[in-house]
Amino acid sequence: MHYPSRVHITEVGPRDGLQNEKTMVAAEHKLGLIERLLQAGIRHFEATSFVSPKWVPQMSDATDVMAGLRAPERAALLAPATVSVLTPNMKGLQAALAAGAQEVVVFGAASEAFSQKNINCSIAQSMAMFEPVVAAAHAAGVATRGAISCTVGCPYEGDIAPAQVANVARMMKAMGVQRIAVADTIGVGTPKQVQAAMEAALLHYDIEHVAGHFHDTYGQALSNTLAVLQMGVRHFESSIAGLGGCPYAKGATGNVATEDVVYMLHGMGIDTGLDLDQLVDAADYISRVLGRAPNSRVSVAMLNKRSSA
Ligand code: HMG
Ligand code: MG
Repeated sequence: MHYPSRVHITEVGPRDGLQNEKTMVAAEHKLGLIERLLQAGIRHFEATSFVSPKWVPQMSDATDVMAGLRAPERAALLAPATVSVLTPNMKGLQAALAAGAQEVVVFGAASEAFSQKNINCSIAQSMAMFEPVVAAAHAAGVATRGAISCTVGCPYEGDIAPAQVANVARMMKAMGVQRIAVADTIGVGTPKQVQAAMEAALLHYDIEHVAGHFHDTYGQALSNTLAVLQMGVRHFESSIAGLGGCPYAKGATGNVATEDVVYMLHGMGIDTGLDLDQLVDAADYISRVLGRAPNSRVSVAMLNKRSSA
């Protein structure tokens, strides 16, 4: 089996993770988390979303989070990192550009029903909404990424065929979206299924421009990560402390925990550029803020080891 020597992790905890918390997390704590992630070596992260505050109140402090990141005392820490944000429409993009985002994410779905629930429009309408966002982002020198939700299963439609994933990947490629993430939003997929979804995305994007984005609802996310790693995928999106879920995918839990992915990769001799101990510090910090243990086997094990040392 041939594995890559280095894997690139995009940390999505501050966005995918904290968008789903029942209680509002203060911008100050979001910034505290991001600081610790940067200290652990994270060089690409989703800071927040510029979405309707009525739809996702947890992200309504997007401008404050971005302003806090740009504070002079964080400049050195932030300098090597790419700050990514979600922007479903032109309103979001304009706010993201004003806030200094370096990459914007348009988020579509392979499922019609999920598209309606999440962004209140059909897949075709979402593509028409994203097209000017992508063009304006590129005109402003900002990178673009596309997320494709529900690539194996949908909470409303059930199984999703790989052809539906290929269809969205094709439309995103045609509008110029630079890279895409294949997401198992509700964490129902198993290794062969996520491989099939990834193969569908690879009909339109090369291996360097696809990422795995796996939620862990059914405990499959690490296996799914390994399954697409074996296909040569080198980009993964994960969430510190396994935070998260999507407010429009009821019952879906967090993404695979960054610490768990990093522990596995380092154990396989694959470099991530990340410091596992400092990731555990970040997981510990946000878990204390939220008042619960990290949803990461590695963090729990390492924190137990620390406390018994
Ligand atoms: P809509 O209600 O159809 O939009 O929502 P609208 O254009 O009619 O606007 C309604 C109101 O929202 C208006 O305000 C707009 O100004 C405002 P009002 O006049 O009523 O006061 N509005 C905005 N405000 C701030 N920023 C904006 C914005 N746009 C409109 N960008 C819309 C359509 C797409 C806006 C809405 O459905 C929405 O915001 N959805 C976001 C849902 C979301 O964030 N979901 C979670 C992220 S996706 C995810 O987690 C999956 C992922 O992790 C991958 C995976 O795991 O699958 C990425
Ligand atoms: Mg997600």
